[in-house]
Amino acid sequence: MSDLSIDNLSMDDLNKSRQPVELSRCSQLLNHGPVTLVTSAHSGRRDVMAASWAMALDFDPPKVIVIMDSNTLTRELVDASGEFGLQLPLRAIAEQTLAVGSNSGKDLDKFAAFNLNTFPSQKIAAPMIEECAAWLECKVIPDASDRYDIIIAEVIAAYSNAEVYTDNRWHFGDNPLNRTMHYVAGGQFFATGESFQVEASEKI
Ligand SMILES: Cc1cc2nc3c(=O)[nH]c(=O)nc-3n(C[C@H](O)[C@H](O)[C@H](O)COP(=O)(O)O)c2cc1C
Repeated sequence: MSDLSIDNLSMDDLNKSRQPVELSRCSQLLNHGPVTLVTSAHSGRRDVMAASWAMALDFDPPKVIVIMDSNTLTRELVDASGEFGLQLPLRAIAEQTLAVGSNSGKDLDKFAAFNLNTFPSQKIAAPMIEECAAWLECKVIPDASDRYDIIIAEVIAAYSNAEVYTDNRWHFGDNPLNRTMHYVAGGQFFATGESFQVEASEKI
């Protein structure tokens, strides 16, 4: 494990307080394109996988698209339950994010194998992962076309880690562990960088 592993975190390093995000604004949580974790549960089985291909689709009611490979256990549980948790892992759990994206829950309980801390979701059966920047609870919208492993879902609950997102604004601080991540391939990630503000000019 690197120095930036969860093992080196004290409970104070991450402020676990969660606060609701207005559903009409929850698309903002995905606008910067972070890697996500998809949690699922059905009939006594549960799973978690990494998903880079997740994006906002609509404001009201809020909808998201996530590409979920039909060969995964996640897809099996999502198809069976009609719901899933979508969350933005912090850099603190980068290694676990890669691990749950590189191993199938068909072979092991990834929550236990990779020491993932969970808490109960509000409106769905799937557990949510603690060390995240934001969480979306999603209900699948059935799509008869069944093309390209696309899952479309309505977001029915959204909340954020108050340490990094409040009042519809991201405010990543100095702690390098408290950043969302962007995945490339082969274990390479970027941490979300500095934000900057521009004013929209009327004419250019
Ligand atoms: C960082 C990362 C991002 C990934 N993004 C996706 C994705 O967007 N869609 C997908 O179907 N698989 C994606 N994968 C692969 C799945 O996470 C992987 O197939 C996983 O082992 C499935 O686990 P499961 O069988 O327990 O559901 C990604 C893997 C990694 C490491």
